[in-house]
Amino acid sequence: MKQETIIIFDYGSQYTRLISRRLRENNVFCDLVSPNIDPKFFKDRKIKGFILSGGPNSVYDNSAPKIPEWILDYDIPILGICYGMQLIAQAFNGKVEKTQNREYGDAVLRIKKESKLFENIPPSNKVWMSHSDKIITLPEKFIATAETNNTFCAAFEKDNIFGVQFHPEVDNTNLGDEILINFALKICKVKNNWTSKNFIQNSIAQIRDEVGNKNVICAISGGVDSSITATLIHRAIGEQLTSIFVNNGLLRKNEEHDVMNFLKNDLGLNVHLYDASNQFLEKLKNITDPEQKRKIIGAEFINVFEKESKKIKNVEFLAQGTLYSDVVESAIIKDGHQVVIKSHHNVGGLPEKMNLKLIEPLRLLFKDEVREIGKELGINKNIIGRHPFPGPGLAIRIMGEITETKLSILRESDHIFIEELKKSNIYDDIWQAFAVLTDTQSVGVMGDNRTYQHCIAIRAVNSKDAMTADWSKIPYEILSKISSRIINEVDGINRVVYDITSKPPSTIEWE
Ligand code: XMP
Repeated sequence: MKQETIIIFDYGSQYTRLISRRLRENNVFCDLVSPNIDPKFFKDRKIKGFILSGGPNSVYDNSAPKIPEWILDYDIPILGICYGMQLIAQAFNGKVEKTQNREYGDAVLRIKKESKLFENIPPSNKVWMSHSDKIITLPEKFIATAETNNTFCAAFEKDNIFGVQFHPEVDNTNLGDEILINFALKICKVKNNWTSKNFIQNSIAQIRDEVGNKNVICAISGGVDSSITATLIHRAIGEQLTSIFVNNGLLRKNEEHDVMNFLKNDLGLNVHLYDASNQFLEKLKNITDPEQKRKIIGAEFINVFEKESKKIKNVEFLAQGTLYSDVVESAIIKDGHQVVIKSHHNVGGLPEKMNLKLIEPLRLLFKDEVREIGKELGINKNIIGRHPFPGPGLAIRIMGEITETKLSILRESDHIFIEELKKSNIYDDIWQAFAVLTDTQSVGVMGDNRTYQHCIAIRAVNSKDAMTADWSKIPYEILSKISSRIINEVDGINRVVYDITSKPPSTIEWE
């Protein structure tokens, strides 16, 4: 059965993601895509409506992104928000005026005509505005359904095409959710059946259908995304799924043991462990450049995975835990306007190299939705709440050359840091925390002796999606305890510093 979907075209407004948020929170499934997308992309969906988002451009700019003409042939409802509304006006020969004065902030919307969009919305309602241009002549056969002090046309419609100048997706718009839901449920008549339970049932049915009697392999790291991906596929096709866990020698303390234990005993997966530590560390000898480290690790991973997977017969599919944010966040704004969505691969380059078909059951979900699916699947709460850990592992947390001694120092320090966060019950309030072994050595004094040892940095950040992040305000007492434990328990460290930079200008990882 095809998933009923509302398609949201992203014209670059800072609020666009909130539109999809609001719909999904109301169990309406939607997809956020570039206006340049090829309609063939939607062949597996049942499209019930289109939303054109706001954006920073003016419709008269030469380089302004356009309305995708093909949506007008579908004869299904369209809602334009802000810039999206102006695009509709332009497409139907209305007139939009460039204004010097930007209207930004609260406004009072007065509804003038009955409209399905405003069902159960009071005649006067607070809304959020953020625009420069406005409509000065209505497009042909459209009627203005609402006004504000600033414009006679704060909303318009014709048949099943609607536009609003304000932002219903923003909290400051009173009853904005209701307006979006009126559009989705009453106008588009999309089913609001998007729940974790349904998602799981549908995914399992789809995977069974697609895979048939072939085999699937999955590169598994023990992190949230790959564990949930493998669990879903395992529920669908059982032993036809083989997961491969590669120890690249760059894992954290006890990680191999803990992850294998969890994957086998908790999740009941069929997992092959491949210990390639020596092989990776050999390749990384004398390498200090961060990009080179990443490239070597990526290439070696592909070699190992390809070799291991050849031992499994009849494989036609590769499963990956790609999330919606991986797809959307890798959108690049080019020339200030054109949004290009590129496909993101968690295990970079594997699908092309191995010529396998991809299965990415989580590709339409946000991280918190994935966590909900995990809960529904009964996955251990500790796994669902695990902080992200990068593919290149500790290699990008050791500045300079990677050696066994440095790895061991870092593992011990990192372990103490995380243990203390858990003991203080603040681990779950932090997006990601870890230790970094800097390449600085400094003078210290321990007992009566001078020391000249490594400096370790600890980093903890709060973030929604890792695109931006703020450093976590961990209480001083906890920082102090972490510092003295690291100094006392880890040989080779005589100084601990706390990283207090945000992203941007820093990144979360140090390399
Ligand atoms: P940065 O350092 O770019 O990190 O601010 C953002 C988030 O991405 C993680 N990260 C990676 N994850 N492979 C991964 O799977 C990688 O190569 C990689 N590099 C960074 C990082 O831990 C943070 O959560």
